[in-house]
Amino acid sequence: MQDIKTYIKNNKERFLNELIELLKIPSVSADTAFTQDVFNTADAVKTSLEKAGCDKVEVCETPGYPIIYGEKIIDKNLPTVLVYGHYDVQPADPINLWDSPPFEPIIKKTEIHPEGAIFARGSCDDKGQMYMHVKALEYMTSTGNLPCNVKFMIEGEEEVGSESLAWFVPRNKEKLANDVILISDTGMIANDIPSITTGLRGLSYVEVEVTGPNRDLHSGLYGGAVANPINILTKMIASLHDENNHITIPGFYDNVEELSTEERAEMAKAPFSFEAYKNSLKIKDVYGEKSYTTNERNSIRPTLDVNGIWGGYTGEGAKTVIASKAYAKISMRLVPNQDWKEITELFKNHFESIAPKSVSVKVTPHHGGQGYVTPIDNIGYKAASKAYEATFGKTPIPQRSGGSIPIVALFEQELKSKTILMGFGLDSDAIHSPNEHFGVWNYLKGIETIPYFYKYFTELYR
Ligand code: BES
Ligand code: MN
Ligand code: MN
Repeated sequence: MQDIKTYIKNNKERFLNELIELLKIPSVSADTAFTQDVFNTADAVKTSLEKAGCDKVEVCETPGYPIIYGEKIIDKNLPTVLVYGHYDVQPADPINLWDSPPFEPIIKKTEIHPEGAIFARGSCDDKGQMYMHVKALEYMTSTGNLPCNVKFMIEGEEEVGSESLAWFVPRNKEKLANDVILISDTGMIANDIPSITTGLRGLSYVEVEVTGPNRDLHSGLYGGAVANPINILTKMIASLHDENNHITIPGFYDNVEELSTEERAEMAKAPFSFEAYKNSLKIKDVYGEKSYTTNERNSIRPTLDVNGIWGGYTGEGAKTVIASKAYAKISMRLVPNQDWKEITELFKNHFESIAPKSVSVKVTPHHGGQGYVTPIDNIGYKAASKAYEATFGKTPIPQRSGGSIPIVALFEQELKSKTILMGFGLDSDAIHSPNEHFGVWNYLKGIETIPYFYKYFTELYR
């Protein structure tokens, strides 16, 4: 029986080349120009699961992009691991800020990744991390090392809110029945500081539209006498935080769980260099809610951010105009006890109430989802912890993340199972940004670590 390290050494080039092929397909779910590519990626994922040893692989049609389901059931008395991942990627824009084309993957060395990193959109989020699971499965099935049952569910709409998956899961509870859900779609602290993500933030995403006069006006003839929607919108947005960077929406913090002093002290033990943080972002100082540390601000505290704002004249030169309309896209990151629908409602009511009579306001909710916390006293977490210990030689640190995978809370609600988040990316991998990359070392370390999760989970399950 070949061990995993040897297997990786013998197959490394192929593992990289297969991922590179997958990364060449621009599966941007947000942009309909790429519809055919998203479908093609789904087919590629299907083929890869068949080759990796699944007995049954299906392309499950949905109202949107298909969900690829695969399984290998070896014994009904053994536990079942359900792997979730996504094959869609974020848009590559702004493309001119990429050093190499986003869908022509190349491997380059970086300071943090001296063994090289694969540069391409989706390399880390999530094709690279999802594909680690496919290759780990290939190892387990081809060497007789699969200790339990496995199911795969890979979707194509994560980056746009997982609507089709939310439709699919309640309709396929039996098919998806499992003992633990395993996801690699998060990160870890550093290559020498393994961590397991124990929390995800929820999300409420809204779009606002402020309308003033019925048409764009000459800013000399009308300026000063009618409301300028852009002035008003920016003022309204500015009022959503107070001088302590506390969010001013009434009721917003009602269900926010305050961590105990002990828990905060525990969190503060995670290694963190303030200087390195500032330096990596080329900022002179950080910014955020008073009385909380940087790590608390981006994990256990809720936030409100403008993601985009537009209106009026933004072309070349100057045009004197008062626009009829102004717009903004606003996201709120939520912590586990906050209900995203309730928060969306609170936002809508408040935003409408603070608008002066001279404008009208429309708030349109986009998508959202609940936050999630994984308890660390269950066998899933313990198995993951032991797996990292086996391959990193260190006990991983539990760490709450600021990002969101809204479907995870739905998994718990519908499938009644816990999700274990074994992420192998780094914050500096630039997911969603130009020059996204994924360390070759991280990719292979993921493939090496995953089979140990199966082994320990099966042992602890008995
Ligand atoms: N994989 C990310 C989420 C993530 C990344 C969590 C790193 C923790 C650490 C996921 O693909 C993502 O981008 N989620 C979106 C939400 C979604 C509804 C668009 C997010 O967090 O903005
Ligand atoms: Mn992702
Ligand atoms: Mn993402």
